[in-house]
Amino acid sequence: MTDPTDGAPLVDVRGVTKSFDAVRALRGVNLTLSQGRVTALLGDNGAGKSTLVRCLTGVHPPDDGEILFRGEPIRLQSPDDARHLGIETVYQDLGLIEDLQVWQNLFLNRELTRGVVPFRVLNKKEMIAESTTILADLDVDVPDVRATVRRMSGGQRQSVAIARAANWGTTLVIMDEPTAALGVRETAAVEKLITRLRDNGVTVLLVSHDMGQVMRVADSAWVLRRGRTAAHRATSETTGDELVGLITGAIAGDDDA
Ligand SMILES: Nc1ncnc2c1ncn2[C@@H]1O[C@H](COP(=O)(O)OP(=O)(O)O)[C@@H](O)[C@H]1O
Ligand SMILES: [Mg+2]
Repeated sequence: MTDPTDGAPLVDVRGVTKSFDAVRALRGVNLTLSQGRVTALLGDNGAGKSTLVRCLTGVHPPDDGEILFRGEPIRLQSPDDARHLGIETVYQDLGLIEDLQVWQNLFLNRELTRGVVPFRVLNKKEMIAESTTILADLDVDVPDVRATVRRMSGGQRQSVAIARAANWGTTLVIMDEPTAALGVRETAAVEKLITRLRDNGVTVLLVSHDMGQVMRVADSAWVLRRGRTAAHRATSETTGDELVGLITGAIAGDDDA
């Protein structure tokens, strides 16, 4: 990409804390997402990954600390606030409606969140045509946008959910375990899609337990351990084994010394 802002901080998380009653899920997390890069978020179960994702998508406002977006402090009170900044999330359940066709899923609920181009002025033909373009641009392997989601494979569903997020998530696409339920071939297709998003200038935050995947698609990785940032590594300067050690604590984190 030739965008001069590539690599500049898009999101800065500074000292974010979040508790659920007695559970201190996040205890002062610091991390940065660089513009136009794929950043992995790693950590054992319960480390706080999903809670951090929900702080970034307006589901859980942090108790304390700051989130900066392009250098400006933001307070996300709802998922709509995040959407207005071009932040979209692919959740584990994908959020697709089984009995609707692919193009209907791609445009689902958009009349509520896009004030500038009201959904109702787009007719069906235009939405079908635009859906075909969206999927073609991302090289998504779905033969017909008029197919219902129910008839599609796991990989195709995942691709549609990612394509929807990518289409509306113009600045940041967050994926929580996007290939956890997929086979090898489908996983490869989703990884190609992630790389393509980055090629299109989108910033990606990828929660993954698959170190091979992290090494293949991410530019860098942040490791959370028990609600704290334990380490940050460029994937070009680490190994899957080191990342696993940082996740489990077998290798000391950057602040453990
Ligand atoms: N809505 C919630 N209510 C109560 N506890 C929660 C809630 N969400 C997460 N937690 C707790 O916060 C901690 C971090 O969870 P989570 O962010 O889901 O971790 P991860 O995604 O890394 O597995 C865990 O102890 C979890 O049980
Ligand atoms: Mg989680």
